[in-house]
Amino acid sequence: MRHSITMEINGFSETKEVDSHRSLLDFLRDDLGLTGAKEGCNEGECGACVVLLDGKPVNSCMMLAVEADGCEIKTIEGLGHKDKLHPIQRAFLKHSAVQCGFCTPGMILCSLGLLAENSDPTEEEVRIALAGNLCRCTGYKQIVEAVLDAAAEMREVS
Ligand code: FES
Ligand code: FES
Repeated sequence: MRHSITMEINGFSETKEVDSHRSLLDFLRDDLGLTGAKEGCNEGECGACVVLLDGKPVNSCMMLAVEADGCEIKTIEGLGHKDKLHPIQRAFLKHSAVQCGFCTPGMILCSLGLLAENSDPTEEEVRIALAGNLCRCTGYKQIVEAVLDAAAEMREVS
């Protein structure tokens, strides 16, 4: 069965027809061409597909697109661009928290969700917030340092 759904994605309203069973991840990647969210496990275990839904991190592989009807979505494409990176993106580069990059969009969006709720997290709080995001390359230390550094920078400018 097809449904017409409308969402605000990265600040722009999108209305599309989707099948009832289409995942939010497939909708974003295949129907809208927003390939920043990655398909890793496709079963809610790796966090590579995380996007923000009304400001909260969600595994987009585990949601149907129709469930996001009427919601605001932010993907990594809506965060910064190469000439004006978001502070979290800058901190990931500074701390070498990106290697292959597969986990990076999900890590950054989860971090953004955390910092929106808690602008001064402890290391443990960062680790807990990112516990659902797997990285096979970095060993996590640089990622945690990057998030703490970005939090400090964001507090300074706010
Ligand atoms: S692809 Fe969604 S959690 Fe792994
Ligand atoms: S940088 Fe490769 S999986 Fe995290």
